[in-house]
Amino acid sequence: MFVLAIETSCDETSAAVLRGGVERVSPARPEDGAAAPEILSNIVLSQDEVHAPYGGVVPELASRQHIKTIAAIVREALERAGVGLEAIDLYAVTQGPGLVGSLLVGLSFAKGLAYYHKKPLVGVDHLEAHLEACFLEHPGIAYPVLGLLVSGGHTALYLMEKPLSYKLLGRTRDDAAGEALDKIAKFLGLGYPGGPVIEKLGRDGDPKAFPFAVPRTKDRSLDFSFSGLKTAALKHIREHGIAKDGPRLPDFLASFEEIVARALVDHVRAAADRVQPRSLVLCGGVARNARLRARFQTFAREAGLEAYVPSPKLCTDNAAMVGAVALKKQARFPAAAPDLDLDAYPRA
Ligand code: KG4
Ligand code: ZN
Repeated sequence: MFVLAIETSCDETSAAVLRGGVERVSPARPEDGAAAPEILSNIVLSQDEVHAPYGGVVPELASRQHIKTIAAIVREALERAGVGLEAIDLYAVTQGPGLVGSLLVGLSFAKGLAYYHKKPLVGVDHLEAHLEACFLEHPGIAYPVLGLLVSGGHTALYLMEKPLSYKLLGRTRDDAAGEALDKIAKFLGLGYPGGPVIEKLGRDGDPKAFPFAVPRTKDRSLDFSFSGLKTAALKHIREHGIAKDGPRLPDFLASFEEIVARALVDHVRAAADRVQPRSLVLCGGVARNARLRARFQTFAREAGLEAYVPSPKLCTDNAAMVGAVALKKQARFPAAAPDLDLDAYPRA
């Protein structure tokens, strides 16, 4: 079975073709048949250059850019996969959460294709797609799985007790981790997106140079908060005269990145104590970060848990992870016709 997946939730236009084994999946035990689908193509066109001058994503520019590029990206995905539209058995598309104008571009495009070719269309949740990215490379991850999703718009912990089951354990009460990185980078004039720039410029810095307190919420909840860290960072910037070309920039960036990683892993530790998972998964754009990946793996080793992180390309927004969810959904709840009533939703 071939699936064509489309992702346009934010500022990446992406299309992927996957070959999946829905036929082999037993509905009773989908995890058994979950031999990883094969990614035949996964084309991602970033809009970073469009948004960089503004230090963040401009929603109207994002939707216009998706409209301009989507047809070419889908064509490219099909060509790279060596598969024609007539061979596609299933269409998959991100429904939300995300920028509603951007989501509608992908959704309308996918509806048009599914309607014309009379094939089922599966709507996919963007956060579920991030959580599933890891299973593309490691289909046998043992449940229950504790998942940390860290992206530009979301920071949340999930318990996955079985395939396609996502229980929210905690989420950020203010900024997402990636958003905090993006905002500090923007404040220092380092460019957008902030995470990769901070990682690059802070690589040789001393992560202990600037003291930050690990943020804690007062109750016993597993919710995150990054606004306090952002305020503390701005105070350091002011008091120590941290500037774009200043000598202390690497130390400052390394320290900030370190505290964000520690805060994230502390939450994983607390959640793992509570829910006793068999495996850990780290996903979302910020999961590309080497410092976070290392802290996460170290914790997993100490705790004796299997830990998985997708390869970098599958961490940031991409359509392959959307196709992965769609294949699992189609195996469990087979649909024959396209659901043309699918609507976009902006919030989780
Ligand atoms: O998952 P994603 O592509 O989009 C959303 O759904 O938000 O994540 C984008 C976020 C941005 O905040 C970006 O700064 C961050 O991921 N990011 C990184 C790295 N690469 C991307 N953060 C830290 N280190 C990186 N290497
Ligand atoms: Zn995302």
